[in-house]
Amino acid sequence: MIKAKINIITGDFLKKPQGSVLLIPVFEAHSKSNGIFNKVDQILGGRLSKKAKHLRFKFKKDEIFVLHETEKIHYDSVVVFGVGEKQKLTLPFFQEALSNGIRSTVELKYESAALILDDISTKSSFDLGRTISQSFYLSQYTFLKYKNEEDKEKKMLISELYIYKDEDHEFRAGLKMGEIVSEGVLLTRDLVNEPAINTHPDDLVRVAENIAKESRGKIEVNVLSDKDCRNLGMGAYLAVAQGSNMKPKFIILHYKGSGSRSTSKKVCLIGKSITFDSGGLSLKPSKSMETMKIDMAGGATVLGVFKILARKECKSEVYGILPACENMPSGSAIRPGDIVRALNGKTIEILNTDAEGRLVLADALSYAEKYLRPDYIIDLATLTGAIIVGLGPDIAGLFGNNQDLIEKIKEAASSQGEPVWAMPQFKKYLKKMKSEVADLKNVSGSGYGGGAITASLFLEEFVEKTPWVHLDIAGASYNEDAPQGITPKGATGFGVLTLIELLLTN
Ligand code: BES
Ligand code: MN
Ligand code: ZN
Repeated sequence: MIKAKINIITGDFLKKPQGSVLLIPVFEAHSKSNGIFNKVDQILGGRLSKKAKHLRFKFKKDEIFVLHETEKIHYDSVVVFGVGEKQKLTLPFFQEALSNGIRSTVELKYESAALILDDISTKSSFDLGRTISQSFYLSQYTFLKYKNEEDKEKKMLISELYIYKDEDHEFRAGLKMGEIVSEGVLLTRDLVNEPAINTHPDDLVRVAENIAKESRGKIEVNVLSDKDCRNLGMGAYLAVAQGSNMKPKFIILHYKGSGSRSTSKKVCLIGKSITFDSGGLSLKPSKSMETMKIDMAGGATVLGVFKILARKECKSEVYGILPACENMPSGSAIRPGDIVRALNGKTIEILNTDAEGRLVLADALSYAEKYLRPDYIIDLATLTGAIIVGLGPDIAGLFGNNQDLIEKIKEAASSQGEPVWAMPQFKKYLKKMKSEVADLKNVSGSGYGGGAITASLFLEEFVEKTPWVHLDIAGASYNEDAPQGITPKGATGFGVLTLIELLLTN
């Protein structure tokens, strides 16, 4: 799938020059620790340091400059990018800086680049390799599928990256790992960016089945039809689906895991998979509806993780659940005031058909706990606009019923540079979700704020005793701002890195 290639070159970047552009990472307050910068600067007659001085650069992370006409060292241009203080260098930080450097190269229309790592030292060369290939593959992403050939042509990408480094098996394995992981993230981004007309529940089934095929028997897919769900009593999930012409598909992926039953964990990942959220009869205003093709981002993240599991061994047994359906208004749609019974027997008064995510997740959570009996459950959902109000557009809200699991996910996310923030699962607010005529209602109704918390408290009513974490990715899954680090405009693929880290290290 990925066409671009990373090559390791042993030897001197000056004697064996490869690629059009030389990428040089530079530490802050550039000093003796920047041997390569100083060496190139010297050959170029001090032009690099002169330019840095002119720009008043301190080589903090987002400081990048380009010097052209550098044929003297056999490269067309040099891209110098700051990586901050040497003592504080972390891999997510380096990933962000390198990604910005790579994007600058893309903007210059160069198709190949060389990277010099002499000054960069990290504890693990595997992790360094992985970070570099993730930066390379993820920062260049743009969704061009529906652009004409001419426009696609204009957006040239770097097809070859050359890294000067002595042969190192660990590093090479890290590069490969980064490529496999990137393919998962890219699948998630493509699915989320794809318009809803092409990501109906049926289409998601096909994606899941393709992943299973690629896995050569390691992953199995099972799909529950609307009839199956009716027989199981999934009244909440089916209520959301009933307004659409597209049949709901409750998709279950299963990765058996390479570990032994007694020592390894059984995990269930659930992804909200509303293939389009019009709001239903509680119709959204047109502006708010424009991006609602992204409402299956949780499911797309789970598919991205399974794409990686198809190629990368993991001890844990992993289930993935995508309760896929479309939220549409029609003569058969659920009405405000209707009461439905969920799989766990609880009744729900649906007062706002636009609070549909919690309804489909309610049945998915109960299903997971009752029929799969996992050691822990994580759900990912573009659940509330309120989380964007609370945390802004980039940070995912983290909720849960188990402190140990919350800490593990925070740790995994921070190691991958994915911003999450733990929110209070403030039990007193649950009373806002109690109905006069049913066990629960699906919106809190009156009063200001706290919408992401009440949504999470609603979900918790469908988990009895299993450790569970909910990630509200309404903001984090989609980026309307300029690209930054590995994050492009549009779908971000948020969550894949964190979940893979969690699965591989726990
Ligand atoms: N899918 C939306 C949440 C959302 C909003 C995702 C913005 C991405 C960006 C969800 O189904 C929804 O409509 N939530 C309502 C809940 C409300 C009716 C209680 C919301 O946030 O307004
Ligand atoms: Mn909605
Ligand atoms: Zn929604």
